[in-house]
Amino acid sequence: MKALLIGAKAEAPKWTELDQRPLAPNELRIQIAACGINFPDILIQEGKYQFLPTFPYTPGGEFSGIITELGEEVQGFTIGQRVYGIERWGALSEEIILKADRVFSLADSMRLEEAASMMYNFSTALYALKHKGKMKQGQRILILGAGGGVGSAAVQLAHTHGLKVIAVSRSSPEVLRGYGADEVYTYDSFKDKVKGTPLDLVLDTVGGSSAEEALRCLSPGGRYLVVGFAAGEVPVFPLNLILLKDVSVTGVFWGSFSRKFPYKQEELAREIFQLHASGKIQMPKVKRYAWEEAVSVLSDFKQKRGVAKYLVVVSPRLIAEDQVRSVSKKRIFLSPEEVLASIGMELGESPFIEITQEMIDDFADATLDHQWIHIDEEAARQTPFGSTIAHGFLTLSLSPKFLEEIYEMPFVKSGINYGVDKVRFLAPVKVNDRIKMSARLLEAEPSRNKGLKMRLGVTYFVEGKPICVAELLSVLY
Ligand SMILES: NC(=O)c1ccc[n+]([C@@H]2O[C@H](COP(=O)([O-])OP(=O)(O)OC[C@H]3O[C@@H](n4cnc5c(N)ncnc54)[C@H](OP(=O)(O)O)[C@@H]3O)[C@@H](O)[C@H]2O)c1
Repeated sequence: MKALLIGAKAEAPKWTELDQRPLAPNELRIQIAACGINFPDILIQEGKYQFLPTFPYTPGGEFSGIITELGEEVQGFTIGQRVYGIERWGALSEEIILKADRVFSLADSMRLEEAASMMYNFSTALYALKHKGKMKQGQRILILGAGGGVGSAAVQLAHTHGLKVIAVSRSSPEVLRGYGADEVYTYDSFKDKVKGTPLDLVLDTVGGSSAEEALRCLSPGGRYLVVGFAAGEVPVFPLNLILLKDVSVTGVFWGSFSRKFPYKQEELAREIFQLHASGKIQMPKVKRYAWEEAVSVLSDFKQKRGVAKYLVVVSPRLIAEDQVRSVSKKRIFLSPEEVLASIGMELGESPFIEITQEMIDDFADATLDHQWIHIDEEAARQTPFGSTIAHGFLTLSLSPKFLEEIYEMPFVKSGINYGVDKVRFLAPVKVNDRIKMSARLLEAEPSRNKGLKMRLGVTYFVEGKPICVAELLSVLY
């Protein structure tokens, strides 16, 4: 079995071949599909984390995979089951052995790749916001390090819980607005913009010199959530400042919480799965590494900018099979009669498609609609949208692609768009938004020349919010 091994503190990982060992009765063996990289992986490698392994050790804490073997006392799991885990180390390996209480079932709606990119950061962020921050709809939150793994998860979660999100970051404002940030500032500019306005929460993943400035921005009664120190410097607050401002400073140690209370981690995970399944939170921007490239992922992570997450695809086969599994949820109609029998039914939802500026520019060129709000990024930044927006007809034109993901009719040789009724654009689609579609079969009837006429009621969503509705008419032969 191939794995990475770090021989001593701060050493680079090297490839190694490890022998498979037999399972203890309460353990299970997991073939790893993907491994997410997180900041603590670097701290552990450098010997700077609160828990350190005995060297040599295999790095990598966050993973998803498939159970391949069960210890004789293990209950509640099956071979072939999709699972995820969040450990301190051991996952940059083709397989991992864990006690059953350290392994978590994965919801059907989440792909293996998504689990290895989301569960660590979203669990940390949700624990911070919900358990420690007691977030409430309508509050204003400032997030330091909003473009990082935990920070970008916190932006999405706070936004979806109805908070106003002020992101502080070196990353691109468009990307952060795509995650749901209402205001985006740099570390140099946020103090002047935010001080004197109401601020209920600060979530700090960075530490360093911005920390005291952020604390000074908090309103009386506010909470400062200490999550991490990505800048490398642990800030020191004067206690009289905390007293005079009448605020509280709260430590967030999710790793310890999830180990002490695995059932509470399951509750957090359930909420994350639900938010994900309804499209309210999404996998962040990910940089993927092939398994063969994994030796450089830790050193590259230290230079990471503008991408929330690094992910190593340990088994491309498992990831591909998982993709097919999620796609094969497509509705398949084998005959016109099956279609006629499904009138009034929901046909399902497509995966998300991200709307990039390149797509908008290409659509503007193809349709000769070069209105500035679509293509002039600088001018669009000054508008209430804060970025360019897609043409409404671009959303509509993605319909055939979405429908191809929702259902399949192998008996159809060609389809013709017959028309579109009752189109309403309900909200703008900003650049970098991710859109998906749901479809319901409203009407179907035989048409001339052995064709089939269909009317579909479709809704397009950005993050669970409807942005367009329409009725699509087509004739199939
Ligand atoms: N308390 C817990 O339970 C818990 C759990 C997980 C992680 N953590 C800690 O939280 C912190 C963030 O973790 P993460 O996984 O989100 O890391 P990450 O993905 O590397 O994000 C850290 C972010 O901090 C910002 N940053 C600002 N100045 C920086 C500097 N000088 N060097 C590096 N980053 C800088 C960057 O965001 P911008 O580009 O937006 O500025 C960066 O993306 C780490 O200290 C980690 O140990 C704590």
